[in-house]
Amino acid sequence: MELLEVQERMLRGDFGPGVKKAMEILVSLGEALGAERLVKISSAHISGVSYASIGDAGLSFIEDFSSLNVRVKVPTTLNPMGMDAERWREMGISEEFMEKQMRILSAFKKMGVKITCTCTPYLVGNKPQYGCHISWAESSAVVYANSVLKAKTNRESGPSVIASAVTGYTPYCGFHLDSNRRPTHLVEVKFGIKSFLEASALGYFIGANVQSGVPLLRGFRVDSAVFDERDLLKGLSAGLATSGAISLFHLSGSADGLETLEFDERDLSSVINLFQECSSPEYVFIGCPHCSLSELKMLAFLISSGVGRFNVKLWIFTSRAVFREAKLLGYVKAIESRGAKVFCDTCPVVMPNELIYGSSVITNSCKAAYYLSSLKRVKVSLMDLKSIVDQFLR
Ligand code: F3S
Repeated sequence: MELLEVQERMLRGDFGPGVKKAMEILVSLGEALGAERLVKISSAHISGVSYASIGDAGLSFIEDFSSLNVRVKVPTTLNPMGMDAERWREMGISEEFMEKQMRILSAFKKMGVKITCTCTPYLVGNKPQYGCHISWAESSAVVYANSVLKAKTNRESGPSVIASAVTGYTPYCGFHLDSNRRPTHLVEVKFGIKSFLEASALGYFIGANVQSGVPLLRGFRVDSAVFDERDLLKGLSAGLATSGAISLFHLSGSADGLETLEFDERDLSSVINLFQECSSPEYVFIGCPHCSLSELKMLAFLISSGVGRFNVKLWIFTSRAVFREAKLLGYVKAIESRGAKVFCDTCPVVMPNELIYGSSVITNSCKAAYYLSSLKRVKVSLMDLKSIVDQFLR
């Protein structure tokens, strides 16, 4: 791979052992992927933050790397960790877990990473500009960044993003090249999307059928007065990255010569029927990906128009920044006064196993359903938000 002089110097160790190690990772990765060079990035987003996911080996890697006195060179955010930083006791998290989780955060903080802990970095200030190169892990955010924000990133891993963040470069290959961003499949969407669950199921259906291709969606429209289109695109992005390895979709463009598939109401039912294992759940989870302010507003509105309290543990997940705004606007109070909880910084899939392993869950997200079922052996059913409120608010 051809390197600039400054990149050669990084590789030689002129900028210290941490930057040297990071450049070694990028050069090996770039060579394995056939990249001819590296490209400058303007943003990074790191996954693999939860102690429940990375364990002691991951904790040591991050602490060792951070002890080499490296600093990130671009705005860098973090994916969810394993607990709410302030209300971890309410979640049932142990002291031991909390201490190890906080060590991970401290190591990242020392490197200059913003301690955001959300899978929606684009809602909390890490919103890349059109056309710029970035290095993001977290599959749902990768799809959203490539497709909605029109930035350019591959689906990175935690270590490769850390290496990119401290050098400011990523291998110039994959979705950084315009030639790889052209659509490969046309998907005709035969009805208007009415809910987050439907957007999520559409993504899941396409992911399962298109795998690692680039779908062009024709006929995608939001047929709802209450859902914000951006929230549904967030759900669609997460679904696409769950059942396949999709990193990019288009909503317009030429469909000449593309293989075509259709998504109709029977396909929607077939996806929802994949996850119908529980009718009386221990938990209901909303917020995969993390809820936006408009989703919390809608939820507060739905809840205030009903009566009674939730007769199930309804846990809603969002980022700390969105939570603070929602609290100021009274949405958190409206939701929690009926027995639900709004947690920050974490998500059901990266919480410690002992909290939910083998339990039963209802969610409105295909991504949460898939990973809770496969990683945590949870019995899962899918249900849309309005039905959740109607059924469990008593
Ligand atoms: Fe986010 Fe966790 Fe879902 S990271 S996309 S809430 S699985």
